[in-house]
Amino acid sequence: MLASVLDIERLDGCGVRIRGLDAKAASDAEIDALRTAIFDRGVVFLEDQALAPEDQIAFARRIAPIVVNRYFPKTERYPEIAKVEKSEAQTTNIGGGWHTDHSYDAAPAMGSVLLAVETPPSGGDTQFADMYAAYEALSDGFKAMLSTLKAHHASAHVFGAGSGYANTDRKELSGHADTPEAIHPVVITHPGSGRKALYVNPAFTTGIIGWSPAESEALLSFLYQHAVQPQFVHRFSWRPGSMAIWDNRCTWHYAMNDYHGHRRLMHRITLDGVPLA
Ligand code: SIN
Repeated sequence: MLASVLDIERLDGCGVRIRGLDAKAASDAEIDALRTAIFDRGVVFLEDQALAPEDQIAFARRIAPIVVNRYFPKTERYPEIAKVEKSEAQTTNIGGGWHTDHSYDAAPAMGSVLLAVETPPSGGDTQFADMYAAYEALSDGFKAMLSTLKAHHASAHVFGAGSGYANTDRKELSGHADTPEAIHPVVITHPGSGRKALYVNPAFTTGIIGWSPAESEALLSFLYQHAVQPQFVHRFSWRPGSMAIWDNRCTWHYAMNDYHGHRRLMHRITLDGVPLA
């Protein structure tokens, strides 16, 4: 059950909206309830947050310790804040496919605090998918089979030399030497909520341990189609001052790239996580 100190509205598909919370002035009880809502519902949306970079950093630190993303460009004065930016001239965005951040790390990032700074006149929404609900909708027999499996996750094909971004106008995101890999259970027990969630994703999961590439692909394709059915997905439209705080362990997200010719600038802080089991 969600804590009552916050005005929480459950959204279709994934996540909750919280009204009346000022991230700069939140009480300790509100921060605790917010963290519970993030763990339980996967993503929390706030509106009208007038936050300077220092305010966003201080707010994020109250939810969890901050970790600096290896790959994204940083804001000029604040290494804690990554710039998720697409200019008027660029055609490739950041995060333009279903993924969950940092699954290639042994202790994947808990989540992110993403603040909209500049938004296009239309488009640039982000979709979020609920991996608790996706897991819970599977049959008991299939869940039992998945519970025996582990998957391999990698970053080199996205951020390393010659990676996915190398042939785009986002070359700055490719060519990195530090490209971790990790193995995690296909179904994790969320460390904050104790609930089970599906933990594979189309961007970084490269195969099922002990399975052939063809077998892995067959299973993963099924799970990827299953997980993005409309009943598990919420599409969020941003305006400046909108903020999303998501949990990578129980959601995926997908930044829509449908606003060519316009600038979109988001400030992202990544929150540190723990090893998953
Ligand atoms: C991301 O962190 O994947 C980007 C999300 C967004 O820009 O909406």
